[in-house]
Amino acid sequence: MVKIAFNAALAQKGLGKEVPSAVKDPELAGPLPPSEGSTGRCLLTLLGIAFILSGLIVGGACLYRYFTPKRLYHGSMQFNDGSSGGEAQPYYLPQVEEKMEISDNMAVISVPPPRFRPGDPAYILHDFNRKLTAYLDLTLRTCFVIPLNTSVVLPPQDLMDLFSQLMSGSYRSYLVQEDLVVTERIEDIKPLGFYIRRLCDGKETYRMQRRDTVQGGGIVKRAAQDCFTIRHFENRFVTETRICKP
Ligand SMILES: *[C@@H]1O[C@H](CO)[C@@H](O)[C@H](O)[C@H]1NC(C)=O
Repeated sequence: MVKIAFNAALAQKGLGKEVPSAVKDPELAGPLPPSEGSTGRCLLTLLGIAFILSGLIVGGACLYRYFTPKRLYHGSMQFNDGSSGGEAQPYYLPQVEEKMEISDNMAVISVPPPRFRPGDPAYILHDFNRKLTAYLDLTLRTCFVIPLNTSVVLPPQDLMDLFSQLMSGSYRSYLVQEDLVVTERIEDIKPLGFYIRRLCDGKETYRMQRRDTVQGGGIVKRAAQDCFTIRHFENRFVTETRICKP
């Protein structure tokens, strides 16, 4: 019984093999139909490739949009710090580079370590709702918080405009120095709001004050202090923030 069934299957296979060859032969024999068929197939293949490519491009664009924050800017600003004296050398102007992520109520600036001069890399967060600014010094891994100075920090929409201007070429500016003093340690960072809490979580956090508002602040010998600087911009000029621990 098994043998018979096996033979029957073989016989069917043999028949099946002969059928396509019989179909193929007349197709190969005719001179015109095959060339028409091949151009058709070629066009179809090209169309298919075009479809796949456009799919890849659209898909890639969607993925790119999905994974990058929507309003992320990058810009640099050259500044004249007066150190070059009377004969300003335009080719050697120092510059500050930064990346900024801007949303309706906050801006986060990423300051890379400066080239050719001392300064700390940092993240600077401006919370426009809470009116607070936090500096996370990446060398010290420490956070410093101060009220937002609205005469220095442009509102979000103006920051976006500034960065679109920076993209169109090199921007020359000037330097403004800011002297801040650490006043006290903040044990509970919850009242500082969601954004600053997320930035400063797990880091020592201190409150700061402008030196000119500290009583007797001007008298302290600067050399005896533990200071560091962060250069950044959130306006049409570069700010050199000097933070000193008492
Ligand atoms: C804001 O910054 C400017 C320039 O550094 C300064 O003159 C002004 O006193 C600051 N305002 C506050 C409220 O700290």
